[in-house]
Amino acid sequence: MNNYLLTQNLGSLDQKDSIASLEAGKVLFFPDHYFSAIDQSLMSATILDGHHKNVSYDYKSKKLGGYQKDHNSLYERLEPFMRAYALFAHALINSALPSYVPHLQWGRTSFRPAQISGRASSKRKDDTRLHVDSFSASPVNGLRILRVFCNINPHNEPRVWNLGEPFSDVLARFAAKLPPYRKLWAIFLNLVQSTKTLRSPYDHYMLNLHDSMKLDDHYQAQVEKMQIAFPAQSSWIVFTDLVSHAALSGQYLLEQTFYLPVDKMAKPELSPLHHLQHSSLTLRIPMA
Ligand code: SIN
Ligand code: FE
Repeated sequence: MNNYLLTQNLGSLDQKDSIASLEAGKVLFFPDHYFSAIDQSLMSATILDGHHKNVSYDYKSKKLGGYQKDHNSLYERLEPFMRAYALFAHALINSALPSYVPHLQWGRTSFRPAQISGRASSKRKDDTRLHVDSFSASPVNGLRILRVFCNINPHNEPRVWNLGEPFSDVLARFAAKLPPYRKLWAIFLNLVQSTKTLRSPYDHYMLNLHDSMKLDDHYQAQVEKMQIAFPAQSSWIVFTDLVSHAALSGQYLLEQTFYLPVDKMAKPELSPLHHLQHSSLTLRIPMA
């Protein structure tokens, strides 16, 4: 056992323990539970359109993106596959964390068929560097980002992550360097459609935290971290807005994002919003 994971199996779940651990920043790990309805014809990075590193799916509208649209009948095979995973993820939350279910909002489903390691990208976009999640174009206004991952690698290769220091330590290190929120700038970003809705102070500070972590070579090299290899045919759930993480290697991952209002947590005081509002600097985030 280690301090970063809470290992669970579906036969003997303890919801209170799961929620307490998850909200405190642990990964809820299911070594024996995985999505098994794999379509082998989709297990190739060639299904990507060349511009995106993942196929994305919106459960509610059934819209798919990021895939090779010229490819014969790909939508007909991908859509049911993505939908089935979205339902698998929802069912897993329903088993492990039923008290969250009535309050969850659907986010994107993502399929990541490309190998992570060795992929060139800017530091800001490089998920092999430790970070907390924040979406630059899609403000969450404080909603929690809860993600369900499943490693479906058909060659038995693990998904290797690093997990970093607790959120309060990340914030203590970077809070003083975060630029102040500027409403006019947020309005501008929205006008030029860089954001889908107005970027809130919360989203501004979280995005700058994400960027500051990734851009700091010294931090990336020196900060205490733990490497975890999630085996093929395993699943895990984590609040990726709270937990400092990096994906080092692996191929073929499914991920479902859900959003959860802070006041529906068992302990809202463990949310990033609460941390930001009560950091030593007291960043200027309106109280909810
Ligand atoms: C991330 O959320 O940073 C990447 C996770 C992964 O692709 O394994
Ligand atoms: Fe991430």
